[in-house]
Amino acid sequence: MTQRKLVIAIDGPAASGKSTTAKLVAARLGYLHIDTGAMYRAITLKVLRSGLQGFYSKRIVELVSNTSIELQPVNGSLKILLDGEDVSESIRSPEVTTAVSSVSSIRQVRQVLVNEQRRIGKQGGVVLEGRDIGTVVFPDADLKIFMIASIEARAVRRQRELRQNGIETNLETLKGEIRQRDEKDSTRDESPLKKADDAIELDTSDMTIEQQVEFVVRKAQERLKATGS
Ligand code: CDP
Ligand code: CDP
Repeated sequence: MTQRKLVIAIDGPAASGKSTTAKLVAARLGYLHIDTGAMYRAITLKVLRSGLQGFYSKRIVELVSNTSIELQPVNGSLKILLDGEDVSESIRSPEVTTAVSSVSSIRQVRQVLVNEQRRIGKQGGVVLEGRDIGTVVFPDADLKIFMIASIEARAVRRQRELRQNGIETNLETLKGEIRQRDEKDSTRDESPLKKADDAIELDTSDMTIEQQVEFVVRKAQERLKATGS
């Protein structure tokens, strides 16, 4: 009998450890990793490049409907293709980070991306990470994890990450940016960031990456066992 393949949802605020964990869990289980934040970032890059004034213009809907976004696993990382162009690096720019929460609060943008996420994930064997996976995209996901971490730990992580890329930043500034994005993501009308009732909360503040991965893999194995797969 072939083993059943789960849909695993990992949600949580910025820098709580979702991407790192999702990538490694997917590798361990032989699943596909779907970074939905990268999809919202890619659309945001396209909107910024188009020079559309005011994010709520009707043309955004048109633009989004005529966009292709692909996530290609390459050497353990995800390559993000926007209309065929590799934008894996440019979607992490400060300009995109600043604009992404506004663009992703537009209902029509979410509709297009959520449909795509459901299409890719519906066969199972996927680890999706984002803000609304367990609440909206796959409310029936087999395993839901809601990752959190203290603002201090998250800012330190971002600072370390930026330092590795040769960028020095002030910790207080980073805390402010993270708080602002959390606030925007949690209070918007469309699919706000919130824990699903049946999600397992995991505070990663004092955990290592390996411990996080181990936790999620163990839960996945328990789910598979419980369903006799
Ligand atoms: O910077 P970080 O990796 O924490 O964020 P991300 O996962 O790349 O997501 C960037 C932004 O996309 C978030 O701040 C949200 O505004 C938006 N997003 C969303 O609205 N819904 C998702 N499922 C994923 C991301
Ligand atoms: O996807 P999300 O924004 O939730 O977070 P991430 O991109 O997975 O993690 C943000 C940064 O924190 C990465 O550089 C991770 O390597 C780092 N991290 C860490 O230092 N310690 C942990 N326990 C988890 C993540």
